[in-house]
Amino acid sequence: MRIGLLGFGVVGRGVYELTAAREDMQVAKVVCLEDVTLPDAEVTRDFQSILNDDSIDTVVEAMGGLHPAYEFVRAAMEAGKHIVTSNKALVATFYDELMPLAQEKGLSFRCTAAVGGGIGWLSELERSRRAQKLEQVRGIMNGTCNYVLDSMARLGLDYGEALKQAQSLGYAEANPSTDVEGIDTWHKTILSANVAFGISVNREQVPVCGIDKILAEDVAAFAEHGMVCKLIGAATRGETGISACVQPTLFAKGTLEAAVPANYNLITFRGESSGIMSFYGQGAGRYPTAYNVVQDCVDLLEGKGFYSPYGEKTEVSNQEEMCYYVRGEEDAWLAEHTREHWGSGVITDLVPVQQIHSWRKAHPNAFLAALPEGE
Ligand SMILES: NC(=O)c1ccc[n+]([C@@H]2O[C@H](COP(=O)([O-])OP(=O)(O)OC[C@H]3O[C@@H](n4cnc5c(N)ncnc54)[C@H](OP(=O)(O)O)[C@@H]3O)[C@@H](O)[C@H]2O)c1
Repeated sequence: MRIGLLGFGVVGRGVYELTAAREDMQVAKVVCLEDVTLPDAEVTRDFQSILNDDSIDTVVEAMGGLHPAYEFVRAAMEAGKHIVTSNKALVATFYDELMPLAQEKGLSFRCTAAVGGGIGWLSELERSRRAQKLEQVRGIMNGTCNYVLDSMARLGLDYGEALKQAQSLGYAEANPSTDVEGIDTWHKTILSANVAFGISVNREQVPVCGIDKILAEDVAAFAEHGMVCKLIGAATRGETGISACVQPTLFAKGTLEAAVPANYNLITFRGESSGIMSFYGQGAGRYPTAYNVVQDCVDLLEGKGFYSPYGEKTEVSNQEEMCYYVRGEEDAWLAEHTREHWGSGVITDLVPVQQIHSWRKAHPNAFLAALPEGE
């Protein structure tokens, strides 16, 4: 396998290093904006030089962002090159363009590192769905958010302090909005649902609520009730159709999710035969992420395509009902649904997921967290 590598940052450099000693794959060219010299690969700023090089059969995209990543990946596919990418934003956003194209051209398209970094999550979903119907995917999919929430709960830090600490340790970016507003988890949830259920979920119908409005007083109220807050992406195939959302969610102390420390991930599927299976590990970082890119390249050498056939566009109903902790300006709807008070927040009775997220859209400064089932 001769690889054209796009991007030479955290992941790209890791891929270069991990493939250097292998006999079965070689990074032949690297597209990169910096002045880098490599002993055994050509470094260029010109993507066309990869596109026009017939000896390069596979493009590994590790640039991130939507543009020009989409244009480069699409052009590479049109030129008959296989794709491995770690870019969840790219795959979740352009799923309906890239997957049919891969199918039509008979190309492999792998993106295991895009969800869970070093965890073999999408590749395990691929294996699992061969033998059973998957009913649910859900989990802690963003290490930055988990680090912030864990520091708030364990060290009593407020949100700003916890975020600053995450930034100083390199767990959060200077502009952390994609992580803390839940967008990164949203991309991963959409991608997981698409692969697990063999569909293409209507992204616009998947609501997202991040952790950026959480206060120390919320965390204190949760602790008083024996609960810990985590950011959860979840998608379920049930009797009321597909439910999918990203939202802070409370877990009783002593549960697996409540115990996930620092920047770790814990992702779980529920299958009709296997029941619940959970995967825990480093959701980011140079070598864990590059490790899964290399795994994808090996899968590709073994002839594996995408994880599931491209499925039909599917509506998300979110009719599932849950109880919520809500802190925000009280209005008639919230008053009508209030069951009890927790500190400066309230606990609602059972409300449809769809309804509470619509309410929050009108109250963007409110913080909400779903309660565990049966609470
Ligand atoms: N980091 C992780 O732990 C991790 C984990 C899982 C998935 N991912 C995903 O992997 C992808 C890459 O992440 P990363 O952390 O490696 O990002 P990064 O460190 O910022 O690296 C991206 C690299 O791509 C280069 N680049 C950007 N636009 C380019 C262009 N038009 N032409 C050539 N090079 C270009 C950048 O160059 P400049 O620096 O000069 O702009 C940089 O070297 C993202 O989609 C991310 O979501 C990352």
